[in-house]
Amino acid sequence: MADIIDGRAVARQLDDETKAQVDQMIAKGQPRPGLAVVLVGEDGASQVYVRRKIKGCEKVGIRSIERRMPAETTQEELLAVVAELNADPEVNGILVQVPLPDHIDARTVLSAIKPEKDVDGFHPVNVGRLSTGTGGIVPCTPLGIMKLIDTVVDDLTGLDAVVIGKSNIVGKPVANLLLDREATVTVTHIYTENLPEIARKADIIVAAAGAPELVKGFWVKDGAVIIDVGITRIMGDDGKEKLVGDVAFDEVQHAKAVTPVPGGVGPMTIACLLANTVQAAQTQLE
Ligand code: GUN
Repeated sequence: MADIIDGRAVARQLDDETKAQVDQMIAKGQPRPGLAVVLVGEDGASQVYVRRKIKGCEKVGIRSIERRMPAETTQEELLAVVAELNADPEVNGILVQVPLPDHIDARTVLSAIKPEKDVDGFHPVNVGRLSTGTGGIVPCTPLGIMKLIDTVVDDLTGLDAVVIGKSNIVGKPVANLLLDREATVTVTHIYTENLPEIARKADIIVAAAGAPELVKGFWVKDGAVIIDVGITRIMGDDGKEKLVGDVAFDEVQHAKAVTPVPGGVGPMTIACLLANTVQAAQTQLE
């Protein structure tokens, strides 16, 4: 049986470390780190995510600043809020929840956030730093994925890693992080031919295609480590809705370890956001 990587437990441990860092800052008389979360419009999933992020802040002692704006907000109005938060010394991290309404260009808005306050790691400066291995803020989900891999693999040097999915938020940054750790990385996507054969060579599979149960048992070699980033709501055989990942979980029990959905990568994303916020606050003190 494959080991199940408990993302909730790893996230709790990271939260404890983040809280200890915040407590230490306060004990030294330093300002409490602050995270601004900006939500435009009424998207249901975004509201849930934002609520979880605010609750996470409370848990570790980060001050949260919530800015909710109506769906009709213009790009100029949103850019003005970003400028205000950029200039506010009590705000160390700024997160503009995406997706944004269609009339707003997300790239323009995300690029307007000061790179040192960009706790999502989406700003081109942080993307460039990651791809050149020169520090910066690392996007939360890829950072969480690496921390989960670290719980089951000591040394990635020379291991074959196959990333399925080439998104800017997961696929590309996680490929860079794996390369930094000296893995041999293959990035694949929906147009990749012979995907099952490529996946079968992998010591590590990161499945981030957003395709429910894409990765079948025969795609996975014995002893591989599988990180499942997908999360899709589907109708089960019993007529009940269920959440599934990009991996056919029941078919991969010959793997060394696999993340469950839910309870794998998901909890790590918020824990890494909180850790990034404290890191940003400390960098801003230097
Ligand atoms: N929407 C879904 N995931 C994310 C995320 O990690 N950051 C932001 N800003 N928006 C999101």
